[in-house]
Amino acid sequence: MQANMIRKIAEGKDAPLELKPSVFLLYGRFFGYIWQHRFKLIIGSSTIFVLSFLQVLIPQITRYVIDNVIPNKRFDLIPWVALTIVLISLLQGGLNFVRTYMMSLVGQQTIYDVRNELYQHLQSLSMSFFENQRTGTLMARLTQDVDALEKLVTTDVVEIVAETFTFLVIVIYLFYADWKLTILILLTLPIMVYLTQFFGMQMRDSYRELQLQGAAINNHLQETLSNIKLIKSSANEEGEIDRFSQINQKNMQANLRTVQLWSAFAPIIDFMNNLGHIIILAYGSWEVMQSKMSIGELTAFLAYLNQINQPTKRFSKIINVLQKGATALERVFETLDTKPEVAEKEDAIILPEIKGHIQFENVDFAYNNSGKNVINDLNLEIQPGMTVALVGASGAGKTTIANLAARFYDPIQGKILFDGHDVRDVTLKSLRGQMGIVSQETLLLHASIKENIGYGKPGITDTEIEVAAKIAHAHEFIIELPDGYDTIIGDRGMKLSGGQRQRLAIARALIKNPSFLILDEATSSLDTESEYLIQQALQKLLQNRTCLVIAHRLSTIQNADMIVVLEQGKIIETGTHSELIAISGRYAYLHSMQFPQ
Ligand SMILES: Nc1ncnc2c1ncn2[C@@H]1O[C@H](COP(=O)(O)OP(=O)(O)O)[C@@H](O)[C@H]1O
Ligand SMILES: [Mg+2]
Repeated sequence: MQANMIRKIAEGKDAPLELKPSVFLLYGRFFGYIWQHRFKLIIGSSTIFVLSFLQVLIPQITRYVIDNVIPNKRFDLIPWVALTIVLISLLQGGLNFVRTYMMSLVGQQTIYDVRNELYQHLQSLSMSFFENQRTGTLMARLTQDVDALEKLVTTDVVEIVAETFTFLVIVIYLFYADWKLTILILLTLPIMVYLTQFFGMQMRDSYRELQLQGAAINNHLQETLSNIKLIKSSANEEGEIDRFSQINQKNMQANLRTVQLWSAFAPIIDFMNNLGHIIILAYGSWEVMQSKMSIGELTAFLAYLNQINQPTKRFSKIINVLQKGATALERVFETLDTKPEVAEKEDAIILPEIKGHIQFENVDFAYNNSGKNVINDLNLEIQPGMTVALVGASGAGKTTIANLAARFYDPIQGKILFDGHDVRDVTLKSLRGQMGIVSQETLLLHASIKENIGYGKPGITDTEIEVAAKIAHAHEFIIELPDGYDTIIGDRGMKLSGGQRQRLAIARALIKNPSFLILDEATSSLDTESEYLIQQALQKLLQNRTCLVIAHRLSTIQNADMIVVLEQGKIIETGTHSELIAISGRYAYLHSMQFPQ
């Protein structure tokens, strides 16, 4: 059931609202994280216990003053009483400091752990997960949800523990003092428990909705701000403003609904508390008038009632917070429980340095389990040092083959071998570490040019970066930039031209110096002039390694050792350029289209 639900979520289906893991299970699991910091937790909570006892003490002093000091005119005792109260107050102050500080430490450290684990887990998940999740939703998990937990631990858990304990101590004392009166006070309790449960469930639903709406805002922002050019070029600013305002309104409505529930609940609980007060006042006065109870005792009772009213009032607030926390926990654990589709085996070995013998054996592949095969019974052998070119119409499956080689996905049938090792038997790091990919979309970060070229290679020197940039013909344009190699190139390299981005990607691949190189339409965004320069750079890049080259422009692959022509995921022709021209097949046709005589 759980696995199924996670799968659904991973596939991007609607979150299954019908399934609600119990609040206790969620908190039990969360407590595991808090327990990591048990030393501080124990110090923090012991102060809570002492504080509860101190709170019970003060009404006792009042009772003593009213019943003993005043009637007996013991003036001499008044300074002592005052001193005791001052001392207790000072102690309370000190302990409160320790309590708040310790519990905040526990809270902050727990949240730090959860957020790190979440990020670490996200990094381990496969491409398919990210294709089916919206970035904004994932961001909401790491920000919104984790923040909700933070508040829970740092402030509210402290209150919950403190209030519950004070409540228990007082109730036990009251039973001891006058059990009949205590039962009367507690009469309202079952009603309150029922109400709390009822509202709690409603609130959890409304917090779920609120969370979804928050994520929707994130998604909208993420998508529109990163595609601002599309919006501007389509002159659709107003359309997006409308769309945002609708999402924003839904968010407001979800917020209002939680406020509505909450504001109905709090007064009901207040009313129940007041009922308790009336009972004590009526019954207590009766007992005092019959001399069954002293005035001091009644005063103490009323003070205690006030004190347990505080917790019951807060219980309602706490329920609110717990339900909010439960929705956050639900989402955090859901993400943590998602298993990567492409996972390393427990006993995965480190792929030794490869020579570059790469084999596809009877490989079938589909992107979704139900979808139709994108790759059909593919058999391909690449000898070390060979350059193999993949050719075919767009959608034929060229990029998919590159994705399979990099193990971004696993085939549903057949296997892929690197120097005889099945890619599923080796660690992902050792596999991808020996592989360079330069693709259609050039992947750049908001960082300096230097950092982008040396990405993933800590300790690389400036000279090595410059040498690579020179070979990739990037050096010329880099030194023209205001800060040279230290120029920040904007999100996804927004401040560069397509050709410049591609040259940086080539320099990055040169730095990595991989045994196996994949070029996926690496020259597609170059103009003719820079293409000529890049061709030379690429020739250098292709030397002394095994390469898989995907190119739309056939001129770039005429020198390949083997050309593989694909159609709908199947190999239909293989051979060298001249062999394929000679048989006048599909390749010869594509070639004649691009180079009409
Ligand atoms: N992430 C994906 N999820 C689902 N289908 C995909 C995905 N990527 C590609 N496809 C589909 O797989 C087929 C092959 O795509 P691709 O390998 O990218 O083609 P090519 O690189 O030859 O143009 C296409 O029909 C495409 O729609
Ligand atoms: Mg492609």
